[in-house]
Amino acid sequence: MVQDNVARDGEEPLAPPAGTLAFRDWRFSVDQEGIGWAIFDREGASANALGSRPLEELSAIVDWAEEGARRRTMCGLVILSGKEKGFIVGADINEFDGFETEAQVIDRLRLVLALFDRIERLSIPVVAGIHGVCVGGGLELILACHYRIATRDPATRVGFPEVKLGIFPGWHGTARSIRQAGPIAAMQAMLTGSMIGASRARAIGLIDELVASRGALRWAARKAVLKKRKSKPAGFTKSLLTRWPARALLAKKMRDETKKKAREAHYPAPFRLIDLFELHGGDLEALKAAETRYFAPLLISDQSRNLRRVFKLSELLKAQAPKDQAWKPMRVHVIGAGTMGADIAGWCVASGMEVTLQDLSPEVIEKGIKAQGKLFSRKFKTRAERAAAKARLIADPAGAGVGRADVIIEAIVERLDIKQKLFADLEGKIKPGAVLATNTSSLEIEAIAAPLKDPGRLIGIHFFNPVAQMPLVEVVRGASSRDDEVKKGATFVTAIGKFPLVAKSVPGFLVNRVLAPYMMSAMARLEKGEEKEKIDEAARTFGMPMGPIELADTVGLDVCAHVGRILGLSPEGSMLQRLVESKKLGKKLGEGFYVWKDGKPDKAEKTYAPAELDRLGRELIDPLIRESERALEERVVENADLVDAGVIFGTGFAPFRGGPLHFRASELREEAAKEAAE
Ligand code: NAI
Repeated sequence: MVQDNVARDGEEPLAPPAGTLAFRDWRFSVDQEGIGWAIFDREGASANALGSRPLEELSAIVDWAEEGARRRTMCGLVILSGKEKGFIVGADINEFDGFETEAQVIDRLRLVLALFDRIERLSIPVVAGIHGVCVGGGLELILACHYRIATRDPATRVGFPEVKLGIFPGWHGTARSIRQAGPIAAMQAMLTGSMIGASRARAIGLIDELVASRGALRWAARKAVLKKRKSKPAGFTKSLLTRWPARALLAKKMRDETKKKAREAHYPAPFRLIDLFELHGGDLEALKAAETRYFAPLLISDQSRNLRRVFKLSELLKAQAPKDQAWKPMRVHVIGAGTMGADIAGWCVASGMEVTLQDLSPEVIEKGIKAQGKLFSRKFKTRAERAAAKARLIADPAGAGVGRADVIIEAIVERLDIKQKLFADLEGKIKPGAVLATNTSSLEIEAIAAPLKDPGRLIGIHFFNPVAQMPLVEVVRGASSRDDEVKKGATFVTAIGKFPLVAKSVPGFLVNRVLAPYMMSAMARLEKGEEKEKIDEAARTFGMPMGPIELADTVGLDVCAHVGRILGLSPEGSMLQRLVESKKLGKKLGEGFYVWKDGKPDKAEKTYAPAELDRLGRELIDPLIRESERALEERVVENADLVDAGVIFGTGFAPFRGGPLHFRASELREEAAKEAAE
């Protein structure tokens, strides 16, 4: 209920600030106790992002609160979210793309910084009540509040994912998080971008109080306002670490750790953040001022633009699953409990599904189930959760689960006749509406489906190895596959937390098709005398997560040779074939191109001229770019963005370069600009 604002000392009654009643992204009211309730509920969006309009509306709310505080008609302000599942997902990154110059970025930042400073300076308590995800700019906003209460719900998590977008917190989140949590915890959160659960956030000082549920937030917030609760900054010991020389030592340690994970030339943001802390971390006001100067160039850098593009591409992939799909898969039946089947089953269980796992051999099923223990320990914190997961993974040698499953995935030997027979047997046993899928990596979907009464039913759901680490799954549309089955396939892939890429049934689909020529041509260079260490280092210099020779050993040389054969790329008598014949299959057997020790390739320590590595890296990647172009021409996937998305998430292609086609287009633009200048 909106309070009548009683005029004091002959003042005019407090009129609602302009537009209050027309707020679109916030609801604001002041109750009878004088507490202002600001509920963020962005219009027409499933999540709250802090774009221009919500920030302007928040500014109007703060105007109102300042006035209410002055007139003593308000005794506190509470910020909550109107979304059931989330608090604030951060700044609206779509708006970032509009900035061309540092000056534009700085102008925009100043407006937000002034707003947050006004919130912090309010003379009445400002309390944030957090349920669900609160990250990036959202976390920066609550850090400007005086007191933070969060629900203990597992969905409530805070974090600074900015580094993943090539930036760091730019709304004074660097200074305020260091003030609250001390430099170690705050810098770790900003450098890794990892999500922090509510209990841990409280332990490190980013959150002040925990409540059991969303329903308890309002009451706790009211109490915090009435008792004028105020968050305490990090203690003396923690703040000592911001002093010299402790700060310099800390910065050095952070730099060494970061170097192990990323190259400064590819990912400058974490390194700039460390510089910022090292030079200015001793004085929070100086840190705030410098934050803006360091932040602005990063936001308009190519790396950040491309990393933002990658984020949007991930959203594009998720959108391949229709939003209005009523079908909700819960039960999965996996046939074949070998390398792939067992891990697919484990991943589905870890995503909350119930899975029956079938194989010709009960021992193989047992072994496959046992191997999932590691994944469950990683995914589930409590013993009860782990036990529940184990109970959802059911050994099913007789295939009793087939008739109940919503999704049936076949991952047996790669033989057309055996797969055809299996699906022909399955067809009469599955329930109506269930998805029938094969994990084949090389056979045509329509060929496997040929003997079915309803061949339109079969699709490919092609996982990559290792299942738990690879974010992409290709949903393969055979010439006969029905559209709604493909859509259901994409829905299933999204339901297990992976990115679906709908691809045509052509040899290698998209990912293996572009990866194979890249790897094979690297092997050809090796045969011609180029050092394997140099090849791998050059690919990493370009930005690949692992060089092609090391990757071949990791995937398994038998698998590489097989894919090469399908694509007609494995010449007779090649080094690859000779290694396979002599059972040197790579990492799994301890030797391939490299000798492997303790899970690592034994590489000769050498240094190469940077310009040489740059040149070779670009040459190595060329076959991948060319094949991506051909795949687009043949519409293996629908458009260029989906090619880039598939190649980034399926091969690890240097994300900061924005994808092979995007990279090539920017190269062409640069070349044209150079020519024009000459
Ligand atoms: P695998 O040889 O490790 O496992 C196959 C399993 O299927 C074996 O345990 C075997 O006992 C079982 N099996 C064979 N015939 C069966 C039948 N009629 N009924 C029930 N179980 C049967 O093979 P892997 O590597 O797991 O590959 C399986 C499928 O996944 C193949 O189609 C392969 O092309 C595909 N794939 C493999 C990848 C890899 O990296 N290994 C990556 C992506 C797809």
